[in-house]
Amino acid sequence: MDMRARTDHPVLDAIADRWSPYAYDPRPVSTADLCSIFEAARWTASSYNEQPWRFIVVPREDEAAFANALDCLVDFNKGWAKDAAVLVFAVAATHYQNNGKPNDKSQYDLGQAVAQLSLEAAVRGIDTHQIGGLFADKVREVYAVPESFDVICGFTLGYAAAPNEGGPEGRTRHPLAALVFGTTWNEPADFLG
Ligand SMILES: Cc1cc2nc3c(=O)[nH]c(=O)nc-3n(C[C@H](O)[C@H](O)[C@H](O)COP(=O)(O)O)c2cc1C
Repeated sequence: MDMRARTDHPVLDAIADRWSPYAYDPRPVSTADLCSIFEAARWTASSYNEQPWRFIVVPREDEAAFANALDCLVDFNKGWAKDAAVLVFAVAATHYQNNGKPNDKSQYDLGQAVAQLSLEAAVRGIDTHQIGGLFADKVREVYAVPESFDVICGFTLGYAAAPNEGGPEGRTRHPLAALVFGTTWNEPADFLG
């Protein structure tokens, strides 16, 4: 399925090939793939190596549990996520375990863990689509997430069934020069030419 990013500079295949589908073929993701995908998250770098991420994983095979998980999403996301093989909720610790202080890097660490697992999935031909549009309070209630963790995001895992509207040309990004500065704010870094 051609949704590969048209990058301006060469990048790893996994990065170019990762995209967020809106149509899923409901076939399951194997246990071996699931283990490797979360193993990839496990080896993510984190502040003080606290590994502040936790994942709640709901495969569609358990129909009742999957329906409950879908109910935690806003309607728009429910509409496309319903065919995914797996729905996951990603939560982050509010405090460092080593000193009890607020962990203001935990959401960064969690995001990095999801990025890392997304690339492991992409290499395996498995697609991910992250979901900010959810009811965090409902996720907390349904899965008894303790107050010491914040519910941050959800994501699907599965096999895309169709390219997104617009195809690869519809995938756009800001130019590097708008994102990467030298020592003056908003001025592109010299190496960008
Ligand atoms: C934190 C986060 C939250 C997102 N929330 C949603 C969402 O609620 N619904 C949705 O359809 N896509 C959501 N997305 C997917 C983005 O829209 C998508 O990653 C972006 O448009 C870039 O497309 P690509 O992932 O195919 O490169 C989210 C992505 C991230 C990283």
